[in-house]
Amino acid sequence: MPTTTVDGTEIAYGDHGSGPPLVLIHAFPLSRWMWSPQVEALSGSYRVITPDLRGFGSSPPFGDRQEARMDRLAADVLGVLDSLELETAVVGGLSMGGYVTMSLMAQAPQRLDAVILADTRAGVDTDEVRHRRSAQQVQVAEKGAGSIAGSMVSTLLSPATVQADPGLADRVVEAISSASAAGVIGALEAMKGRADSVDVLARSDVPALVVVGGEDALTPVSEAEAMVGALRQGQLVVIPGAGHLSNLENPEAFNSAVVSFLATLDRP
Ligand code: MLT
Repeated sequence: MPTTTVDGTEIAYGDHGSGPPLVLIHAFPLSRWMWSPQVEALSGSYRVITPDLRGFGSSPPFGDRQEARMDRLAADVLGVLDSLELETAVVGGLSMGGYVTMSLMAQAPQRLDAVILADTRAGVDTDEVRHRRSAQQVQVAEKGAGSIAGSMVSTLLSPATVQADPGLADRVVEAISSASAAGVIGALEAMKGRADSVDVLARSDVPALVVVGGEDALTPVSEAEAMVGALRQGQLVVIPGAGHLSNLENPEAFNSAVVSFLATLDRP
C-alpha cells in the first residue's frame, strides 16, 4: 500500500485503476476500507484514490489534540495529490470525508474538477453534539474505540440494512473496533472545531453531486437538500433504503449516481 510523507507524517492511500482521478475520503471512524465497493466497480474506468485520514487505517494519528484540525486533514489529501503529480481531481467524501472535502473547497478550489458530498452537512456542530463528542473522547480514552462500536452501528446503518445484511453490520463494528483510540479522539477534536461551510458551498462554482441515504438518521435528507440549495451547481440523489453509510448499504445505486455524475463532467 502506497504512502507519502505530508508535513512529516506518512499518509497511506489506496490507488486503483487508471483514468481520470477520483479521490474518495472515508467517514468517521472508518478507513479507506469503506470504499471497497466503489474501488471494485469504478476502477475499470477511473483512477480511484482512497486516502486513510490521520489516525485511521494505516495512517498514524495526530501528534497531539491541538493539531487535530479539519484543514490539516484536507492538506493531507492535497499532499497525496501532489505526490501523485495530479493537479486536479474529482474529490468526494462521505460524512467526515464530506467535511474534509468542504475544507478542500475552501482552501484549494482550483484543485477540484468536481465534488461529491455524501451523507454530510455544511453546518458546524451544535453545543449538544460537541458535548457528546467530548464524552466519546473520554470513553474512548478509557475503554478504546470498540466501546462505541455497538451503539454507533445502529445509527450508521438503516434498520432495513441491519436486517437484510447482518454481515455488513458485523464488518462495520469490526472496522470501528480496530480504529486506534488516538485516531478516534483526534478526529472527534477536528470535527468539533470545524468551520462552517455554508458560504463555501454558496461561493463554489465546481459541479457538485450531493448524495444521501433516504433513511440517513445522522445527516438526513433535509441536510442534503439544504446543501443543494446553497450550491450554485448542485444536484441531489437520494439512495433508497440506505442509512448514513449509503455507499456500503446500496452500492449499486450509489455507484450509478457517481458514474452518471462523472459522465456529465467536461474534462480531458
Ligand atoms: C461520520 O460518519 O463521519 C460521522 O457520523 C460524522 C459526524 O459524526 O459528524
